[in-house]
Amino acid sequence: MKRMILALVCAAMMMPMNAKTLVAYFSATGTTKTAATKLAKQHDAVLWEIEPADKYTAEDLDWRNPESRSSVEMNDPEERPTIKRCTNITPYDTIYVGFPIWWGICPRIINSWLDNNEPQLQGKVLIPFATSGSSGIEEAETYLKKTYPTLNWHKGLLMNKH
Ligand SMILES: Cc1cc2nc3c(=O)[nH]c(=O)nc-3n(C[C@H](O)[C@H](O)[C@H](O)COP(=O)(O)O)c2cc1C
Repeated sequence: MKRMILALVCAAMMMPMNAKTLVAYFSATGTTKTAATKLAKQHDAVLWEIEPADKYTAEDLDWRNPESRSSVEMNDPEERPTIKRCTNITPYDTIYVGFPIWWGICPRIINSWLDNNEPQLQGKVLIPFATSGSSGIEEAETYLKKTYPTLNWHKGLLMNKH
């Protein structure tokens, strides 16, 4: 009996007792926010909105206009929109990273967030999730893995029917 208790205590000590989950997301018009809120509830996770310093207006989001802010940003792979507040990701082992699909992939503000946090993100479990008009998440997953090859990406979730 003593041995069994000892084994259980040891097993418990090896497990991350305070494994924590973060749901970090960007949402321009609220759809991804709804999905993120649901995901956070499901996983008992902390919810964090990645907010741009300058909010996107309806004009900014006009993908039919090649000169709109979103079109200009998505046309330039190096574009990194400024984020309003930085995130303390240190306490989290698993991080869901959510965004709307823009032009098949993630908006550049997700790159800003990943670039800002890249050293601290090493070794953590990263799960992308997205909402879209109709596109899948696969292209975004491929892009993220290619752009951040040292990060521990897991299978993504498309949350259009949340
Ligand atoms: C600039 C821009 C580009 C978009 N590109 C795509 C796309 O390539 N494929 C797609 O299915 N939906 C696309 N959408 C639609 C959004 O992904 C979809 O409406 C999403 O759910 C919006 O999420 P949000 O409300 O959290 O911003 C695009 C929307 C915008 C504003």
